[in-house]
Amino acid sequence: MRCLVTGGAGFIGSNFVRFLLTRNLYDKVAVVDNLSYGGYLDNLNGVLSGIDFFQIDISDYSSLAKVFEEFRPDHVYHFAAQSHVDRSILNPGQFISSNIVGSFNLFELSRIYKTQKFIHVSTDEVYGSANPGESFLESSPLDPSSPYSASKAGSDLLALSYYKTFNFPVVITRSSNNYGPYQLPEKFIPLAITNLLEGKPVPIYGTGMNIRNWLYVEDNCEAILTVGLHGATGEIYNIGGLHECEIPNLELAKILCDLLGRSYSLLEFVKDRPAHDLRYSLDSSKIKKQLNWEAKTKLRDGLHKTVEWYSTNRPWWEKRKKELEEYYKQNYGNR
Ligand code: DAU
Repeated sequence: MRCLVTGGAGFIGSNFVRFLLTRNLYDKVAVVDNLSYGGYLDNLNGVLSGIDFFQIDISDYSSLAKVFEEFRPDHVYHFAAQSHVDRSILNPGQFISSNIVGSFNLFELSRIYKTQKFIHVSTDEVYGSANPGESFLESSPLDPSSPYSASKAGSDLLALSYYKTFNFPVVITRSSNNYGPYQLPEKFIPLAITNLLEGKPVPIYGTGMNIRNWLYVEDNCEAILTVGLHGATGEIYNIGGLHECEIPNLELAKILCDLLGRSYSLLEFVKDRPAHDLRYSLDSSKIKKQLNWEAKTKLRDGLHKTVEWYSTNRPWWEKRKKELEEYYKQNYGNR
């Protein structure tokens, strides 16, 4: 069995490749990644010799077609995406080309080359903001708030239309906020940890009362693989963290200050993100009932492991932060 992972040099993708290789399930694993700002070959250090690597942008149909002709995957795990909400507010166009056109190219080629299973990795953000006490089911209406989440909702709908029209063997996963090693310091947790390590302020949008449900990346990888191996085609599976992982940003930032021995005075309130979803909350009972999966990692344990990783991998994030300087100016300059 041959398995293709798109976006395999990015945050969740590279964690997934590592996880996958420890399981020895596939005879061959290939990664497609364009190595743009979010993907780095060194995220795959130590496992590169065990995979085939193709540096390709999924929005480039003809290059992607050559990979399918050569590799002919039985299973495709599709992680490649532009995924940062703030960037989608600054520059929405890239999100359409990667998340919609790129996904379309993959659906088409997988259909032509008769891929046996296509795992489309999506997000809880497609449901929009949850009211207090509400948790979204897979059947909840789509109500995305940002160009990012709208582009993911668009590709989810396209995937389901392929299932209905062509009997395309797709299965969709919708995860809550991931965190852990190898996450680019433009997302909240790695930005906060690395700023605190440098003794710099941590920007808190609005009042800091926005709530996210945090999922340790290894738990997500396990869930996605479970869906890849046992999920029913045409189905969607929510993948949420433990209930205790649902907390306001300010509370989370205070835990990080405590773990790093830094003062709360480093937490700096800045202008809010436009259309900032107040709360994300998933009902993950379907994956638990049908596939016997549930998150394992407690928030404090996951944060502790993540803080450890960033503390011992300084060169990894210092290099990325230098490259992100222009973006930081653009995003935080006028807040
Ligand atoms: O829910 C899943 C989604 O989670 C994924 O689909 C997205 O790819 C991922 O980016 C994430 O979206 P968020 O917008 O929730 O993640 P982010 O890390 O950007 O922000 C987490 C929360 O922290 C959010 O309420 C905004 C807030 N925040 C973020 C940044 C970057 C701040 O207060 N300050 C910041 O500087």
